[in-house]
Amino acid sequence: MSRRKIIAGNWKMNQTPSEAVELVKTLAPLVQNPDVDVVYCVPAIDIIPVREAIKGSNVRLGAENVHFEDKGAFTGEISPKMLKDAGVEYVIIGHSERRQYFGETDQTVNKKLLKLIEYGFRPIVCCGETLEQREAGITMDWINMQIKIAFSGVSAQQAKDVVIAYEPIWAIGTGKTATTGQAEEICGGIRRTIAGLYGEATAEAIRIQYGGSMNAANCKELLSQANIDGGLIGGASLKPDFGTIVHYQKA
Ligand code: 13P
Repeated sequence: MSRRKIIAGNWKMNQTPSEAVELVKTLAPLVQNPDVDVVYCVPAIDIIPVREAIKGSNVRLGAENVHFEDKGAFTGEISPKMLKDAGVEYVIIGHSERRQYFGETDQTVNKKLLKLIEYGFRPIVCCGETLEQREAGITMDWINMQIKIAFSGVSAQQAKDVVIAYEPIWAIGTGKTATTGQAEEICGGIRRTIAGLYGEATAEAIRIQYGGSMNAANCKELLSQANIDGGLIGGASLKPDFGTIVHYQKA
C-alpha cells in the first residue's frame, strides 16, 4: 500500500500574525505539490490570518495544541470547538515541548486524542525518547508505552486516520538529526506496535512522520524510507527550505 506523504510545519512560538501572513506569501509558490499533504500548524493567534492567507491553495490549516474539554473555566486554553469553528483541520498533541514545559502527559494526550476524534479533526500525535532513554536502550519500550496510552479507547477505524510523529527529543532544534537508520527503525517499530494493537490493515494505513532537525539537505533520504510517511518540521518550516522538503523527491 502506498501512503500519501504528509509534510507539516510546526511553527512553534514564532511568527506574529502579520509575520505569519508574510511567511504564507513567501512560501506559497514553493509548496505546491499535489502529491503530498502540506500542513501549517500555527500559534493560536495566527490561525485566522493564516486561514485567510492560504485560501484557495493546497495548504491545510493546523493548530499546535488543544484542550480536552469542550468549554469552561480553563483560563488561557483553546477548546476543540473553537478550533473547529476557526477552520482548523489538523492538531498536534503531545509535542515534547508541551510535555516538558506544560505538564502534558500520556493521559492528557489520550484525552485530547479522543476529543479530536469526536470532533472529526486529523490528530498528529507526537512521541519520542530523551537521549538518556536512548542510551539506556529503552527507546522502543518508552515509545510503545506512549502510543499504547495515547490510543487507549481509540478503535481501529479511528486509528488509521491519526498521524503519529516520531520526534527523538535529542534531535529537536539541535541540528542533530537521527540517522536515517535510527529514524526508520523506530518508525517501523511504531508500525509494529500499531499492528499489535489493531492488526495489519490499520498499521499499513496509518501515517508516521519523522521530526527533529529535518531540513532541505536530509529530507530526501529520510522521506525515502519505507516507514517514514512524512515530516514534522520546526525550524526549517519558517524558511524557503520548507518548499524543498515539500518537493523532497527532487531535493
Ligand atoms: P526542528 O525541526 O526545529 O528540530 O523541530 C522539530 C519539531 O519539534 C517539530 O515538531
